[in-house]
Amino acid sequence: MLLETARLRLRRFQPEDAPVLAAYRSDPAVARYQGWTAPVPPESAAALVREFADGDPGQPGWFQYAIELKADGCLVGDLGVNLDENRMQAELGFTLAAGRQGCGYATEAARAVLRDLFELRGLHRVSAECDARNVDSVRLLKRVGFQQEGHRPANTWIKGEWTDDLLFGLLAERWGQLATP
Ligand SMILES: CC(C)(COP(=O)(O)OP(=O)(O)OC[C@H]1O[C@@H](n2cnc3c(N)ncnc32)[C@H](O)[C@@H]1OP(=O)(O)O)[C@@H](O)C(=O)NCCC(=O)NCCS
Repeated sequence: MLLETARLRLRRFQPEDAPVLAAYRSDPAVARYQGWTAPVPPESAAALVREFADGDPGQPGWFQYAIELKADGCLVGDLGVNLDENRMQAELGFTLAAGRQGCGYATEAARAVLRDLFELRGLHRVSAECDARNVDSVRLLKRVGFQQEGHRPANTWIKGEWTDDLLFGLLAERWGQLATP
């Protein structure tokens, strides 16, 4: 286990996670604003999980945390951190299975990761981007303290259309001022 919260374990992915990851990432509603296309075939999920399992959260590049619910041991989603080469900045991304949304798990996981990045690893800044129509993602980012810094109209070609991106940022100084539970 890498990080722990009241209800969650944020751990490294393991090969047995592939079928569950394939199931939740194959939901068109979950994939709607993401870079992949549903359905995710079993072999792609297995390759992805192998790649995630080999990652190192201390090294630059993406590291994907598996979000596991303590109550039932189930994988409920994933949270990615892209550590910059300078190790002072990072980008966040997150996905929850549709049936696990609306319970505060993404907020809890994001706060644990932000606490680790800012308070233990001394990062200066964390960024995030999302489709301007992705209201759940916007709510989540604002809830954990991100501030909107930009709006890029028709910036990303995804699933057959140009989409607007919202840019968010959170500085260490602001994180230190937030009263996080
Ligand atoms: C983005 C995403 C992770 C947000 O998930 P979410 O379930 O809305 O976020 P949380 O898990 O933090 O849950 C928060 C909600 O649970 C509610 N909630 C219920 N019980 C709760 C509890 N015990 N504690 C905290 N919140 C609770 C909150 O009130 C909140 O609802 P609201 O947004 O209507 O106010 C999810 O929509 C998702 O996976 N989308 C598909 C993938 C995607 O687009 N990712 C983003 C790419 S940028």
